[in-house]
Amino acid sequence: MKVKVRGFEMAYDDTNGSGVPLLLIHGFPLDRTLWAAQVRGLADVARVIAPDLRGFGESGMPTGSVTMDTYADDLRGLLDALGVKNAVVAGLSMGGYIAFAFYRKNAARVRGLILADTKAGPDSPEGKKGRDDNIALARAQGAGAVGDKMMPKMLTPKTAAERADIANAARAMMARQSVAAVVSALEAMRDRPDSTPTLAEIKAPTLVVTGAEDTLIPPKEAEAMRDAIRGARLVSIPGAAHLANLDQPDTFNAAVREFLKLVA
Ligand code: MLT
Repeated sequence: MKVKVRGFEMAYDDTNGSGVPLLLIHGFPLDRTLWAAQVRGLADVARVIAPDLRGFGESGMPTGSVTMDTYADDLRGLLDALGVKNAVVAGLSMGGYIAFAFYRKNAARVRGLILADTKAGPDSPEGKKGRDDNIALARAQGAGAVGDKMMPKMLTPKTAAERADIANAARAMMARQSVAAVVSALEAMRDRPDSTPTLAEIKAPTLVVTGAEDTLIPPKEAEAMRDAIRGARLVSIPGAAHLANLDQPDTFNAAVREFLKLVA
């Protein structure tokens, strides 16, 4: 499905059933198909809404620079267009950075937060340099080259070796993104603010999720968020790396189901 939001066509899945609205924000350099197993597996307990961020997947790419606030405003526009007053907002990795921006601007619309394989802090100087390197790589060799570089951290070695379906889906998802979307997201991540001060302000029920084997954003980041957000709970997913929901969908969905019982 597509809807016009803030000057571009935003593509999204919406199970449109009963239950609490659950907004799923994908990571980088991915699209809404990241959440296929959640759209399928949680539709009986939630109205699952999974958009493609601007430029990614099947969404349009308006001109102009992009920040985490830009993505957050697009998502507010989507909820407005769908008539959704408040939602459980779930973000994986870059999706988590966006969830923080969304919370800062729209706390009253956040019924709960799910922060998966993400972190609150900004990029270090080396991290910023890595963004610039990846921007140059994407411009020179395309999005697939950035994906190839990231691939070893996305799934556990076991999943990558034994689950060709999952590995191929992840690789193809990263390869099909446009250079414009990838570059603008890298700039937005490089320049994103520190969300650490936000943690103490979060009043929404919060679930923190980490792949136990995530080396891109290690579990200690999840523990720090759990400790800093009042009442937050942490679920560590065994046998999962960075894309925990793709790697181990059943365990991930079970954690979300438990959490949704608290906020429904
Ligand atoms: C993501 O998975 O969204 C990104 O890799 C996060 C990041 O690079 O900081």
